[in-house]
This record gives sequence, C-alpha cells and structure tokens, in this order.
Amino acid sequence: KDVDVSGVWRFREGILSIPESEIVTHPEGNTRLYRRKALAHWSGIDDIAFKHEGENPTGSFKDRGMTLAVTQAKRLGANVVACASTGNTSAALAAYAAQAGLKSVVFLPDGKVAMGKLAQALGYGAQCLAITGSFDVAMAMVKDLAERGDVYLVNSLNPFRLEGQKSIIWEILQNLSWQAPDWIVVPGGNLGNTSAFGKALREAYDAGWISKLPRIASIQAEGANPFYKSYQQGLRSLDAMEPETVATAIRIGNPVNFHKAKRVIKDLNGVVEQVTDQEIIAAKLVIDRQGIGCEPASACSLAGAKKLRDQGIIKAHESVVGILTGHMLKDTDAVLQHSGRELEPIRANLEEISKKILN
Ligand code: F0G
Repeated sequence: KDVDVSGVWRFREGILSIPESEIVTHPEGNTRLYRRKALAHWSGIDDIAFKHEGENPTGSFKDRGMTLAVTQAKRLGANVVACASTGNTSAALAAYAAQAGLKSVVFLPDGKVAMGKLAQALGYGAQCLAITGSFDVAMAMVKDLAERGDVYLVNSLNPFRLEGQKSIIWEILQNLSWQAPDWIVVPGGNLGNTSAFGKALREAYDAGWISKLPRIASIQAEGANPFYKSYQQGLRSLDAMEPETVATAIRIGNPVNFHKAKRVIKDLNGVVEQVTDQEIIAAKLVIDRQGIGCEPASACSLAGAKKLRDQGIIKAHESVVGILTGHMLKDTDAVLQHSGRELEPIRANLEEISKKILN
C-alpha cells in the first residue's frame, strides 16, 4: 500500500495519525544516502554522507511536507490551495493538488524562478502568478489571502508541512541504524527544514530512539543571510533584507520560520553559517562531477560543511550528514553556465571526431 511505502507515512504515528483513506500520497521519501571519496576529500571530513532529497517525486524535499499539507487541505474541505514559492514548493503543490483534485494557485517572484520548477508547476496544472518583487512580497500577499479565507495556505508556515519534513531526519537515523551523526548540515532559506529537523531530533531523543543529539548547521547564501546576521548578534532579532543569490531557491530576505529555527539552534547547540555564490558553485561542481548532481541551493550543505571544517567547528573525526534539497535538473541554466563544459559542434567525419576526442 502507498501509505506503507511512503517514506513519510510509514512514520505516521509520529507525524499525523489519521485514517488511511484520507491520505494523499504519491508516495514520496525513501531517498538515498550517498558517500563518495571526492566529497570527503574536498570537505576535509572523512565521515560525510549526503541524503538526496532531489530523488522525491517532484525533485525536492517539498513533497514530504506537501503530502501532509494537501491531505489536510482535503480533510478541511478547502477549495483552493495556495503558496508563495521560489519554485520547488509550487511544483510540489501543483502535483499533489492535481492528485487530490484541488485547484492550486502559486505566487512566484517574477523572473527569479528556475525553468524546471516553473515548467513543473505549469505542467501539473497550477494557476501560476508572477508577482513583481521578491519571494517575501509574494509570501505576504498569499498570507493576506489566506487570512481573508480565500485560500488554504501550504507554505511552511503551515505546521503540517513541517511535520512531514521531520521524516527526512527519521529516515537518516534509520539509514544509520539509529546511531545519530554528530552534525546535520542543511541549507537555510525560509528555515522550515531547520525548524522541522530540530523537532524531529528532539522527539527522537526524548523517545529514546537515539542516545545523543546531533548539532544542526543551517547554511545561508551570503546574499540572503538574515538568519546568519541574527546569529552573529546572539540570535536577538531578524532584520529583513533584499535578497540576491545564484541559489534562487533560497533567495529569501524575511524567513517565516525564524522564531522556530532560532529555538532549534539554541536547543541543539547549532550554528548558522553563510557561503558565497562562488563557494556554492564550487561545491555544486564537485557534487555534479560525482554523477550525483544537485541544484545550487542544495550545494550549501557541502560548501557549509567544508567551511565549518576549515574553521575547526566541525572536527576531523566527527560524522556529518548533509541534505541535498533539490535535483540538478531543477535549474539547468545554472548547470549550463557553470559546468565548465560546452557543447562542441562537429561534422560527422570519423577522422575529425577521432582527432578531437583523443586530443
Ligand atoms: N533548498 C531548496 C532546493 C529549496 O527549494 C528551499 C526552499 C530550500 C533549500 C530552503 O529550505 O525554507 O526549509 O530553509 N524553497 C522554498 C520554495 C522557499 O518556495 O520552494 P527552508
């Protein structure tokens, strides 16, 4: 049965206990954990693995929260489900709403959504609205609409989303035979994962599933780093900013889960780090060249792990699990611009071809 196969719903007792007939599942989850010598070498961390959430049905971790949010929307009898999105949430919403037979509307920052994501949202049949301004402007609009009662909101402000995303952590722990790693490293944008991961780890520890609590490292892009700046000042307050980064998925200046994430960083002795666009692209190239691949935002995990190792915050002997949040094909422009390879035109002539490839 799909509910038992789903990497989210097989944990349903710890997530949302409801009758199986009410569940909208693709199914999702059960993503792989990758270890590669090159990633260990580049980061300086021997025991480093990456969980590839790009292997979910719509190519990002968002499916794990969306199966919950759309299930809940249907249970509540919602007519229209909506989100603001830098792309991935919109793709997941469109797919799950299509399955549930609900109308979906997505609010996208005009011109700042990677083409793979936009194509998915359109293809799965969502109404796609391009809003002038950043994700934060779109988020404010859809929040107001939800407060008027026009739509059911499925952004990560919706607590059911975060309940689903907890399964990323429980799956990792299960993959590691319930031996918790020393660190979990995750990109930080709207800070939904940072919040959900803290809750999942705390619940696992309190239930006695694990005997130690890992530390969390939330990694932001330097051009969209309000959480990092707040961390630098003892997590006191958040100053919203105008975001800009090559990692369009986390081009967010006013993260809605700031307060939850702040509590998690305090609870788990976590850290917040930032990485530059150059560091993101360098890390992405290493991941891509291992035949694994990820979108730019996901590469924050490797770039951030390396940076924390270089600073001695992550110790050489410590174990680390990073999250790759989205699939390489989400953002093909980023691949084409930064792969260091280009398409070479050539005549269909054996001699010429032979000369070229053996050179
Ligand atoms: N990585 C990817 C690939 C994402 O799409 C997102 C968020 C994040 C990381 C950040 O995760 O919000 O939990 O800190 N994307 C949202 C969207 C904003 O609309 O698709 P977070």
